[in-house]
Amino acid sequence: MKTQTAVKSAVLVGFMAIGLAMPAQTPTSLKHAYQGCFLVGAALNASQFTGATPRNFALITTQFNSISPENVLKWEVVHPKPETYDFSLADKYVEFGQTNHMFVIGHNLVWHAQTPKWVFEDEKGNPLSREALLKRMRDHIHTVVGRYKGRINGWDVVNEALNEDGTLRQSPWMKIIGDDYIEKAFEYAHEADPKAELYYNDYSLENEAKRKGALDLVKKLKAKGVPINGVGLQDHVHMDWPTADQIDNTISEFGKLGMNVMITELDIDVLPQATPSQTADVSLNIAADPKLNPYPNGLPESVQQQLANRYADLFAAYAKHCGLVTRVTLWGVTDADSWKNDWPVKGRTNYPLLFDRGAQPKPAFKAVIQAAPRKTS
Ligand code: G3I
Repeated sequence: MKTQTAVKSAVLVGFMAIGLAMPAQTPTSLKHAYQGCFLVGAALNASQFTGATPRNFALITTQFNSISPENVLKWEVVHPKPETYDFSLADKYVEFGQTNHMFVIGHNLVWHAQTPKWVFEDEKGNPLSREALLKRMRDHIHTVVGRYKGRINGWDVVNEALNEDGTLRQSPWMKIIGDDYIEKAFEYAHEADPKAELYYNDYSLENEAKRKGALDLVKKLKAKGVPINGVGLQDHVHMDWPTADQIDNTISEFGKLGMNVMITELDIDVLPQATPSQTADVSLNIAADPKLNPYPNGLPESVQQQLANRYADLFAAYAKHCGLVTRVTLWGVTDADSWKNDWPVKGRTNYPLLFDRGAQPKPAFKAVIQAAPRKTS
């Protein structure tokens, strides 16, 4: 199995003329700019890795050395019915990553969302017993992780188990199994592929209460000898949250516990906030309102520049921890693909990523490249 370090050193240096005026020595790919610091990844949807001419193929392979599956490895897709597994899309995703020598992420194994209702019920529709749900979880993890043993390099084993106040979310997993469902998930994943990296992944971990909850959780898991390698900070962020200090402290605190830290789902929301807190709770659905969608025909230059500055600041904050931060993954490739166009308000025009709707690099792309640590030779 490739480790993140091995992948870093094996990465082919990719240069691409993409229409930005940069000095001759400046790398023009994200993965090259941050080589030796961290991997740079993107979440892909099925249209990007299936078919004879995958959408934005050259852009993806030139810019990124890691991929995450936006949806195709979630329970509802790979295991829609008790006796039915469907790996048709997941197989293509993994093949795409392997063919292009990328560090392939599995997302995710145990989550409260995009998990069918039947998972938690018996054939009569009654809640499953603890033992039956543990068996179902183990079977699922062994089947999915086992299928991609040695090919998926790291797994988001448990996703979003915490509430904003740092307590454990009362998900069906928690209610039926109890709080040890988390350690069991990691144990099963480790049994299925002992060499895969295993992560806890969540949003808003920069906020103090939730961060404390996650730190306590990791401490507890480590004390019990649970095989956990890293923590994923999703980083669905805003222009003014989190601060560089919050990011810095969060990365350092998890580092002190011996965790690798990954930024797993980065995007920056430039639209007016429709919710009071910094959540990424997928169940939110807020009514459309033109005031919440101010840039339907394009982003004003001034905001474009603010976005570029914000991206540069974030990457500088991550790069301060080169090596401890092992990967930064953007949640999508172009603005057209982003879930942020439909959440938490459907049908908005958002601009959260580094490539525009025509797959052209935005000023933020250049800013990220320029924020990379300079190599001394
Ligand atoms: O599966 C149906 C499909 O059958 C139907 O044809 C299609 C038409 O609308 O909808 C499909 O479901 C959509 C699904 O994505 C697959 O495309 C859902 O409506 C849509 O809500 C779902 O959104 C995904 C969301 O997770 C749901 O939980 C986003 O694409 C995905 O980016 C997002 O990713 C999550 C991470 O996994 C965890 N962290 C937060 C992050 C952002 O919410």
